[in-house]
Amino acid sequence: MNTLISFFILMCFTSVISKKLPAYISFCHQGDPNLNECFANAIAQVKPHLKNGIPEFQLPAMNPLFLPEASLDNGESFRATFKDIEVFHAYEFDVKYVNVDLKHAQFDMVLGLPRLRIKSKYSITGKLLILQLNGNGRSDGNFTNVEAGIKMSGSKYTKGKKEYFNFNNKSLTLKFGHPVLRFDNLFQDNEELNERTNKIINENIESILEELTPVLNRVISDFVFGLIGRIFSRFSVEELFPK
Ligand SMILES: *[C@@H]1O[C@H](CO)[C@@H](O)[C@H](O)[C@H]1NC(C)=O
Ligand SMILES: *[C@@H]1O[C@H](CO)[C@@H](O)[C@H](O)[C@H]1NC(C)=O
Repeated sequence: MNTLISFFILMCFTSVISKKLPAYISFCHQGDPNLNECFANAIAQVKPHLKNGIPEFQLPAMNPLFLPEASLDNGESFRATFKDIEVFHAYEFDVKYVNVDLKHAQFDMVLGLPRLRIKSKYSITGKLLILQLNGNGRSDGNFTNVEAGIKMSGSKYTKGKKEYFNFNNKSLTLKFGHPVLRFDNLFQDNEELNERTNKIINENIESILEELTPVLNRVISDFVFGLIGRIFSRFSVEELFPK
């Protein structure tokens, strides 16, 4: 009996803890005439905590951010798989634009990421531009001045007497700036060919990214909207934007 009660208390306690909102955020009121500015400030308050993660929002630590795996292919000849992906500096973004419309359940945001470094294990096969590739090893990439445009719209629904946002229309647009990539071991120990191929990849990085844009967008969207979705499915409109 006692065990059962303690178990029950523990369960309540856990659910209270896990449904708590982060105390360091000053939440924006629904009727705030400067809602956009307030929302941008709230994001700025969240930002320093992204480094070590925000358990209340189920957001993982971002120093670095780990992704187990991502695959890119162009639907025909080319396929690349990245594993044990580490993304550095993702929490160092600036909010460049915010437009929130709570009534119509619309959020628009533009984030600037001054620098991103992505390290992973890769395996690549197939033809990319003029290159015939078949290799695996470690990859490293530095991206400067990445810009991410995030748009979400949808509706509100009721769950247990509370209203929640449901975003069924989401889009992410990415501008990559000019990245510098490095793939080790593309041609095993043929260092000269490795160097030459890395040079060709970097000289043609804009067209490579363009070719991979649809799949890059899908991979990154799934990830980003997965994280954002956790917040909006856990917390009601009124919890996030009190009256
Ligand atoms: C989805 O959003 C885009 C722009 O953000 C808009 O043009 C489009 O009408 C929306 N679609 C739906 C089904 O709401
Ligand atoms: C990325 O930047 C780091 C730190 O400046 C540097 O050590 C690394 O070599 C760079 N990687 C590439 C692929 O240029």
